[in-house]
Amino acid sequence: MEINVRRIAILTSGGDAPGLNAVIRSVVKAAILRHGWEVLGVREGFEGLVGDPRVQRLGLADVSGLLPRGGSLLGCTNRGHLRDAAAGVENANLDALREVAAAVRNLGVDGLIVVGGDGSHRIAAQLSRRGIPLIGVPKTIDNDLPGTETTFGFDSAVAFATDALDRLHTTAESHGRVLVMEVMGRTAGWIALHTGIAGGADVILIPEIPYDLSQAAAHIAARTAAGKRFSIVVAAEGAVPVGALEDGRAGLKAPRSGLANRLAEELQVLTGQETRAVVLGHLQRGGTPSAADRLLATALGAAAVAAIAQGQFGQTLACRAGRIQLVPISEATGAPRLIPANDSLLDTARGLGISFAAPGEDAAKARS
Ligand code: F6P
Repeated sequence: MEINVRRIAILTSGGDAPGLNAVIRSVVKAAILRHGWEVLGVREGFEGLVGDPRVQRLGLADVSGLLPRGGSLLGCTNRGHLRDAAAGVENANLDALREVAAAVRNLGVDGLIVVGGDGSHRIAAQLSRRGIPLIGVPKTIDNDLPGTETTFGFDSAVAFATDALDRLHTTAESHGRVLVMEVMGRTAGWIALHTGIAGGADVILIPEIPYDLSQAAAHIAARTAAGKRFSIVVAAEGAVPVGALEDGRAGLKAPRSGLANRLAEELQVLTGQETRAVVLGHLQRGGTPSAADRLLATALGAAAVAAIAQGQFGQTLACRAGRIQLVPISEATGAPRLIPANDSLLDTARGLGISFAAPGEDAAKARS
């Protein structure tokens, strides 16, 4: 049963990801062509609703040619007035939340689409509890948003990182070096795992498996002894050494953790082999979305419009078993979705002889 809608708004919030513009384009086209609604674009995430509203009307001309462009036409502010609310601090930023809710009402918006990650969903959940009619759209290149099996931006990030790894293979081989490449993923190692396998890494370090660097060095030494001139290490920025979780060193505060450089220095000492480090950083967030991300982002945008038309608010979209479905928004506000210990790709990697530098790994391999 469709409800009466005249005007909707969309905002993009948190770290950008390839595919954001594809969502905006899909929402605008579906809303205007299918329903004849007016669409407002909120600038700079939730910040555009704090103080004097910064919104712009979005028409078909505004999204023409937008599909292949990375980033967000509207801008996405990571965390401003609502930083603590995004972090899940109870009763935080209440004045800003009230301002945002009032602004949505004053704009005469019948439905708000929030495209963002866990922090944005925590803010959206609080706005929904204040009666704001909204739908969430999951987004992060990290692929670690709870409640959904995949997020747009991830495929593009892995494609770019895999291309980078291919390039590092040729220079590592030419110089007989160990190359350490750091990818994004503060809490979960999805990008590192997928890139490491797709790009043929020899060692993959992920937050889910605290590493013993001597195991990585032994693995590299075994390759050298077998006549291999080079080795490739892929490390998620949030990977930690054994024991770090216990003594609280875990949990990356900023992407510029310097992990790759530290690993390279330590591995050079442990292996005696020349080692270099590369940090991909925000290169993984930029650029054109892959075809898979364009497809997923477009489908999510259209699904968000369909949900508003049915008045199904207070929910977010989730990809499960290859289908897009609506789930309570609270499902996207919990702890990050880590790589499960029984993930088949972990077995795939181990079966190919890839090391995760897990304690005792070498001994286990020697017995196999
Ligand atoms: O959450 C996505 C993400 O790209 C992380 O992988 C990365 O650590 C972080 O955002 C970078 O945040 P910022 O853009 O604020 O430096």
